[in-house]
Amino acid sequence: MFTHDPIVCGDSLSLMRQLPGGSYDAIITDPPYASGGLTTTERKASPARKYISRGRLPSFDFDTRDQRSHFMWSVMWMTEALRLTREGGWLMVCSDWRQLPTTSDALQAAGWTWRSLVTWDKTEACRPHQGMFRNQAEFVLVATRGSIGREQDRPRVFPAGVFRHYLKPGDKFHLTGKPVPLMAHLMEVLPPSSVILDPFAGSGTTIVAARQEGHTGHGIDVSPVHVQIARDRLANLAN
Ligand SMILES: C[S@@+](CC[C@H](N)C(=O)[O-])C[C@H]1O[C@@H](n2cnc3c(N)ncnc32)[C@H](O)[C@@H]1O
Repeated sequence: MFTHDPIVCGDSLSLMRQLPGGSYDAIITDPPYASGGLTTTERKASPARKYISRGRLPSFDFDTRDQRSHFMWSVMWMTEALRLTREGGWLMVCSDWRQLPTTSDALQAAGWTWRSLVTWDKTEACRPHQGMFRNQAEFVLVATRGSIGREQDRPRVFPAGVFRHYLKPGDKFHLTGKPVPLMAHLMEVLPPSSVILDPFAGSGTTIVAARQEGHTGHGIDVSPVHVQIARDRLANLAN
């Protein structure tokens, strides 16, 4: 599927079902959070309204599931992700504070072993709330397919569990884009030349980081607009 192009356009669940089992070292991804509001009406609003947008980045679909269906759908794609990952391989999945409990339940229901939580501290540049704490962090839940093996067989790295990074608007290619340095940080625990899948690739940040770190990255996104943005980013890297 990825022979000619590292980014494929389509529904990730359908496409993941076509890939051979055990073919990835890691699934590293940032799925739609279906978050961004205290009420059902707020959560069902388009991402362009829910999340801060300066108007120049396109919106995206499938971010409006209610809590129960978001949980069920997460278990479905995480189960498929488990099948695609080799024994001892990784799932690293982004979440916000609202969806953290649902995401940790879903990955364990899918059969993953939850091991760690990396915090992305987005700094005090985040929107302040009078009389309330800033929601200045997002999270990456880190899980493995079974055992991570003996300590002596693991890479000799000791990466921080909190990653503080301000993502400049000019470095964002997606409404909810992640920083390349964050994705590269997550890859520190992987063996050299790992093969990584991002089933919700958006603007291709994971694939860009994988290339920079000497890994192979494959991405899927249902939005043709974002697939094109990701392809353009990768083409610019090559130049
Ligand atoms: C949070 S964004 C990923 C942003 C990405 N981390 C970046 O830095 O650009 C989630 C993406 O998942 C895509 N998506 C939503 N449902 C999908 C599905 N069923 N299959 C494939 N992609 C989907 C959306 O189009 C959106 O681009």
